[in-house]
Amino acid sequence: MLDQLSAIAAAAFAQCGFEPTLGRVILSNRPQLCQFQCDGAMKGAKALRRPPLEIARAVADVLAANPVFASVDVAPPGFINLNVTDEFLLQSLTGAAGDARLGVPADENPRMIVLDYCGPNVAKPLHVGHLRPAIIGESLKRLMKFIGHKVIADNHLGDWGLQMGQVIAQLEELGVAEADITAELLCDVYPQASARSKTEPEFRKKAQDYTVALQQRDPEKFALWEKIVETSCVDFRENFAVLGVSYDYWYGESYADQFIPAVLDILKQQNLLRLDNGAQVVDVTQEDDNPPMPPAIIIKSDGAYNYETTDVATIHQRVQEFAPDEIWYVVDKRQALHFKQVFRVAHNSGIAPAALRLSHIGNGTMNGSDGRPFKTRDGGTMRLSDLLEQATAQAMEKIANSTYIAEQDKADVARKIAVASIKFGDLSNHWTKDYIFDLQKFLSFEGKTGSYILYTLARINSILGKASDDSPQFTQLTGDAERELAIGLLLTGQQFAQAAAQQAPNFVAESAYTIAVAFAKFYHDSNILGETCAQARASRLALCKLTRDLLLLHLDILGIEAVEAM
Ligand code: ARG
Repeated sequence: MLDQLSAIAAAAFAQCGFEPTLGRVILSNRPQLCQFQCDGAMKGAKALRRPPLEIARAVADVLAANPVFASVDVAPPGFINLNVTDEFLLQSLTGAAGDARLGVPADENPRMIVLDYCGPNVAKPLHVGHLRPAIIGESLKRLMKFIGHKVIADNHLGDWGLQMGQVIAQLEELGVAEADITAELLCDVYPQASARSKTEPEFRKKAQDYTVALQQRDPEKFALWEKIVETSCVDFRENFAVLGVSYDYWYGESYADQFIPAVLDILKQQNLLRLDNGAQVVDVTQEDDNPPMPPAIIIKSDGAYNYETTDVATIHQRVQEFAPDEIWYVVDKRQALHFKQVFRVAHNSGIAPAALRLSHIGNGTMNGSDGRPFKTRDGGTMRLSDLLEQATAQAMEKIANSTYIAEQDKADVARKIAVASIKFGDLSNHWTKDYIFDLQKFLSFEGKTGSYILYTLARINSILGKASDDSPQFTQLTGDAERELAIGLLLTGQQFAQAAAQQAPNFVAESAYTIAVAFAKFYHDSNILGETCAQARASRLALCKLTRDLLLLHLDILGIEAVEAM
């Protein structure tokens, strides 16, 4: 809708002999005064060497003749304040309601995007640190697909590095047979192995040797490794299923192994590899680096491949297999240096074509009330499954006495409320931000929460259920609450476009919340089921229905399931 209004304003600026790009229409920041505003006259005044008020008046005269506007006013120093007609809003609403995309435009230049998100290390359970990248990545996948892009989601498991050698060494020392490996056992073995590596030089050396042996496919090590990966992945899939997170591929670091020789050839050909203390490294400094950038280690002095090696090889593989325009990595911001190095190696060597956009969406952390990365009560790392269980139990307490939910549905509803609350609580923060995990707040049915959005939907379902014989139709708007809701709904496309441009699902969460709040106001102000005027009732029901459909779309993009009633 803003694009449509901006096009009209641009034409008006042009008609007056001014630069058309000045005609950008935005939502009014004083909604009591008007619905929309255009600040182009102030922006252009200097270049045009004319007082902004004069420019605004000239443009306003042209705009006033357009039937889309109910009012066009000029306010000093040069604001153009706009209200649209109800006819315009009704037409737009009817268009959106009758459109399979609910009025949200698709991008005209579809791109091929590989989305690499979360990629947990195998052999240890998912913990709360995996939550952000998993659900931000999932939401970006859904958003970009909906906008019309081709998206491939790849779970780049950490399954080929030193931690594998450590775990295999520890399993061997414990005398654990391949058949006895379970997810529970790995939970204990992984921390033991990494602790021993820190304190016992002999064990560390063994783990390094085993990592090299594995990477050279020593049959015994490889068999153990396969079992470890398989066991972990069963566990991952269960957790991801609860969170509504899914991937097209689970290639992992190990899959990149077969592309390493080709990558080494390219790096050698280009003379990029250099020997540094027994390791093969690539320099990636740029003039403006401050502090200086360390070289990327491609082959460690013990002969093992590194995290950088598998990531560069994976770019090579993705270029060959998918020919992407972009690769997005949703991974903790603390890995920023790693990605900078990898991207530079890939671009400098031509492994990534110059036009391939590589972007690290470095997510912030989920913190506890102490402001530090979230821990269990005793200071340990909290397993994701425990967090979900806790949240589900608390959601259950909240709905235990509800008469709106059938007894046999309560467990399922509680799980959905818990997941919605956790995901919305996370996704409503920009990915750069750290945020404080506050389950009580997230589960609240009021405020900017997932529960509130689900509750809004349940309320609408109940209204529409009672009016099932009606045929909703947009014929009139009464009152500003209805107009405000209408505008909120019609701005969805704008919000999604903004989210896509900034790779930031929080704009989708924000839009859902704005709509839910506008709906609450409308529900409070307007009589719906009790309305006697048939036209008003049909229009209000149509608003309810479009609100429901658009909120469901928002939730789907956030990867959140709604509930029928609550
Ligand atoms: N395995 C890594 C970790 O647990 C994350 C992998 C992210 N993806 C990538 N291509 N490096 O920290």
